[in-house]
Amino acid sequence: MGLHVAAALVFVAGVFSLSVFMATLPRAGPLSDEQRAAAALIKAGDRLLTTPAVILVFGLGVWLAALGAWYREPWFWVKVTLALILSAIHGVQSGSLRKLAAGASPGDLRFRPSPPWLVAAMAATIAMLVVVKPI
Ligand code: HEM
Repeated sequence: MGLHVAAALVFVAGVFSLSVFMATLPRAGPLSDEQRAAAALIKAGDRLLTTPAVILVFGLGVWLAALGAWYREPWFWVKVTLALILSAIHGVQSGSLRKLAAGASPGDLRFRPSPPWLVAAMAATIAMLVVVKPI
């Protein structure tokens, strides 16, 4: 459980930081050399920390669910759905970072990654669901 929560913190922190970084970029036009270098550095950190954290969160989460037979509870499925949406947001962010680091401009991206407030709201809802188990 401790490792699951620790990995979840790294996962959420990674997605939140990426969404903050994306929000600081211009909507169109090419990136400066510094912005492109920052994108490449953040991409490397993302591969090293956030991606393994996502795998740990899901692996340990499935194991914890089997141990506690939580898969019968509605809160569990709402939580898993929100966690899957956060992972999808992370996937889009990683792809966008890779393209930006390779020289694309923000206007070339098909999807705008989520705003930081949405990531924070989803993470808070996930934590509330698992601690309070209201449904
Ligand atoms: C962003 C993603 C996630 C966050 C922030 C998160 C957060 C947490 C937290 C804070 C706890 C501890 C609750 C407590 O001590 O009362 C917990 C437990 C748990 N999590 Fe996650 N989790 C995430 C993803 C997942 C996923 C994807 C699964 C399943 C596939 C999962 C399944 C579980 C289970 C079964 C427990 C144990 C519940 C209990 O025994 O009361 N979690 N999670």
